[in-house]
Amino acid sequence: MKPLQHLFQQNLEWANDIKENDPEFFTRLSQQQAPEYLWIGCSDSRVPANQIVNLPPGEIFVHRNIANLVVHTDLNCLSVIQYAVEILKVKHIIVCGHYGCGGINAAMEDTDHGLIDNWLGHIKDVSRFNADKLDQLSGREKQDMLCELNVKEQVINVCNTTIVQNAWRRGDTLSIHGWVYSIKNGIIKDLETCITNSAQFQQKIASKS
Ligand code: CO
Repeated sequence: MKPLQHLFQQNLEWANDIKENDPEFFTRLSQQQAPEYLWIGCSDSRVPANQIVNLPPGEIFVHRNIANLVVHTDLNCLSVIQYAVEILKVKHIIVCGHYGCGGINAAMEDTDHGLIDNWLGHIKDVSRFNADKLDQLSGREKQDMLCELNVKEQVINVCNTTIVQNAWRRGDTLSIHGWVYSIKNGIIKDLETCITNSAQFQQKIASKS
């Protein structure tokens, strides 16, 4: 028997289901993609971008990594952002974290997790930048707050990329959003940290310091 046969079977059923409802779906999609959204989310298997916002293939461009980080020098993430903004011309970049994030929780621990601790160092930075907000909390409340603060910080990192800065300079319509998803009830919370232009971004940075 072929390895992972059940997945091939499920794939056939899925493709057939779609073709039954819309015979031209794959033909149309094979010719071009024109998504309006770039999703930057966590790799967690419980947070699948398309399903959460109920969008079919072709509607959302996706980058995922542990704890939905946008690291200034991460060529992988930056390449995704560049392609999404400059070629696909997405109108929205959504950074979506989630409560109960293993990456966030691990970053709060004082134990050795191996190589990944170097990645989680970026979350430790967020924790240090926001010590005043986090020190008064503990347990679950503290974890949830760090999930939110991490998303807000990554939104700022997206805004700081040369790609987004140049898009705004050109006058492109491009909004950056920060959301947090609850794996307990499937609901997304808007952190109301949406930034749509350079002036708004500068104002945000100034009010933070
Ligand atoms: Co996560």
